[in-house]
Amino acid sequence: MTEFEDLEGVGPAIAEKLHSAGYDSLESLAVATTGELMEVAEMGTRVAMKVINAAREAAKMGYEKASEVMERRKHLGYISTGSPALDKIIGGGAETQGVTEVFGEFGSGKSQIAHQLCVNVQLPPEQGGLEGKAIYIDTENTFRPERIAQMARAMGLDPERVLENIYIARAHTTDHQMLLAEKVQEMAKEGDVKLIVVDSLTSLFRTEYCGRGVLAERQQKLGRHIAALHRLSELNDLAIFVTNQVMARPDMFFGDPTKPIGGHVLGHAMTARIYLRKSKANTRVAKLVDHPGLPPESATFQITEAGIRD
Ligand code: GTP
Ligand code: MG
Repeated sequence: MTEFEDLEGVGPAIAEKLHSAGYDSLESLAVATTGELMEVAEMGTRVAMKVINAAREAAKMGYEKASEVMERRKHLGYISTGSPALDKIIGGGAETQGVTEVFGEFGSGKSQIAHQLCVNVQLPPEQGGLEGKAIYIDTENTFRPERIAQMARAMGLDPERVLENIYIARAHTTDHQMLLAEKVQEMAKEGDVKLIVVDSLTSLFRTEYCGRGVLAERQQKLGRHIAALHRLSELNDLAIFVTNQVMARPDMFFGDPTKPIGGHVLGHAMTARIYLRKSKANTRVAKLVDHPGLPPESATFQITEAGIRD
């Protein structure tokens, strides 16, 4: 708390308020918005602005040299999906300091990849992991510990230990989902959480905000949620993996009738977007879409008893 009290204009009372509202570092204050502080820490506009500016100053947030960015990016971690072919098209696996999205129709393998990542994140780096724990925010009640155990056994791991390292929370509303994401910061500070799954990112938003009248509101809230996830991934050097459904476009007769939910708000916010398509039997085709630094290549993988494989 002394860290906050050192900021100009922040006394013990405000420091206490900020802490109980969930802010726990200068960085978290520096990237907060005035409206956010006014709402959750019940302070006036002027105080909120002052606190944010002081935190930005103290956290030295602003420009940094490209060489420093390069240095930080050297430490990016990757979690293997279980399929080397899929890892390859997305640049090595699900990346830390970023958000990876998979979208596709029901049964295309989104939740299966999410389960596999929860196992693989626990492996040592030379085997495609980050020796970390996983958090699974489940909005559709599709998390299956039995499937995790099956995947763990297939890799010669102790299923009980693997299950010990995965924390599950079931989200019931969009507010609840956003709150759970905020809670992660407390757990992640201990340092060993390396993966957060949100399965599905959009389903609650879609059911709570349906109809054209609330579309703008939904998009704004979704935008805030993604921004919070990005912040988590950067502050804690962890990977975020989110799933997303496709919407049927009955008004569209030409081209691909399946587009991910969430429109531009999501599209521009993702580090990598992967489109999954069912092929014959257990085979799935993944295509990397809209990536700033990688070509839009496809990979084929399988969902087997053992998990995700080439
Ligand atoms: P929705 O959440 O409904 O949108 O779909 P999803 O994309 O999350 O699909 P999911 O990842 O749940 O994939 C389900 C598919 O995975 C099933 O249709 C099976 O083909 C496959 N699958 C799931 N469990 C197993 C298993 O234990 N063994 C094998 N071989 N395949 C499995
Ligand atoms: Mg699913």
